[in-house]
Amino acid sequence: MSSLLVDNIGELVTNVPGTGDGSPLGLRRDAAVLVEEERVAWVGPARYAPAADRRIDAGGAAALPGFVDSHAHLVFAGDRAAEFAARMAGQPYTGGGIRTTVGATRAASDDTLRTTVRRLVGEAMRQGTTTIEIKSGYGLTVADEARSLRIAAEVSDETTFLGAHVVPTEYADRPDDYVGLVCGPMLAAAAPYARWVDVFCERGAFDADHARAILTVGQAAGLGVRLHANQLGPGPGVRLGVELGAASVDHCTHLDDADVAALAGSAAADGSGTTTVATLLPGAEFSTRSPYPDARRLLDAGVTVALATDCNPGSSYTSSMPFCVALAVREMRMTPAEAVWAATAGGARALRRTDVGVLRPGARADLTVLDAPSYLHLAYRPGVPLIRQVLHNGVPQCRS
Ligand code: NIG
Ligand code: FE
Repeated sequence: MSSLLVDNIGELVTNVPGTGDGSPLGLRRDAAVLVEEERVAWVGPARYAPAADRRIDAGGAAALPGFVDSHAHLVFAGDRAAEFAARMAGQPYTGGGIRTTVGATRAASDDTLRTTVRRLVGEAMRQGTTTIEIKSGYGLTVADEARSLRIAAEVSDETTFLGAHVVPTEYADRPDDYVGLVCGPMLAAAAPYARWVDVFCERGAFDADHARAILTVGQAAGLGVRLHANQLGPGPGVRLGVELGAASVDHCTHLDDADVAALAGSAAADGSGTTTVATLLPGAEFSTRSPYPDARRLLDAGVTVALATDCNPGSSYTSSMPFCVALAVREMRMTPAEAVWAATAGGARALRRTDVGVLRPGARADLTVLDAPSYLHLAYRPGVPLIRQVLHNGVPQCRS
């Protein structure tokens, strides 16, 4: 069995509570991580590090679990830079541009879509992301949704069927028929390639009745539930998600007290956080020039919060988790520690994964070494390429 020691780590974020400094980040000083094959085998003080076949010297820098980006839309063609420019000149974001991307995606070849997905996964990896969820949702036909998920499943286990992204133009005057298509043949074709089902529950997309119908049949087909909710305005999405036991409700930009109470009420009995995670996507607020969600309110109510990129060509064309961490700290009143936890362990919670977002024996050897002495620099030095080394499944990916 081949082994690799990541040695001389000045500050290690483990996300193992009760270890290291006792904080949720489980911070250790002067640490080392032993990797055997694709798993972490040992974590401890560098001076007690076991021998290994190979060694990476972190040179006293900080290291942390690879980012877990639990919300991304990577299967698409074309871009919407002109729409972004129009927004920056004062146009509002309505989600209507989704149909532009649907047209381009339907017209694209499998290889064109595959190239884009792989390019974006690589781009994310170079910024420290080692787990990335990928949604369909720009095909919106049985064949196009199935192929989007097939291509996504080539590069990620975390694939999400989002046939209910918007009602496509050809169904504009008969949305019930489209929901019937999503619940029937489209779900059947998509489910073999999907782990999750998602609905854009929003005015102008799908209402609560449609969302409930789609998510319920998705659940019956064995898919886990997640939801785009309360992005553009208040609505029933967050409470519906909690009611259905969703792993995550995403965006959460416009919440009332009942939404926050519902999320807080999904707390697990063991005190480990809420069953339904609130995933915040500050790249979308940045790119649509919208007010940011109030992370402090959620955290203070005891809600488990994740951060993700929402990488997509319309509302958030960034694959950078460090950028989202910096936004969350500067604009959403999260502490750097809360933001880094949310981008790693929080993302893992949102995907119901216990093997990523954490560095302890048995976990996946997904780890990032920074060009910085502390994780604090992720927010303190925004826009700076701080990712020096990424290990994914124990394999070194890049060195800058
Ligand atoms: O999460 N809100 C719905 N879906 C995406 C936007 C997609 C687009 O504009 O193309 C989102 O922001
Ligand atoms: Fe999204």
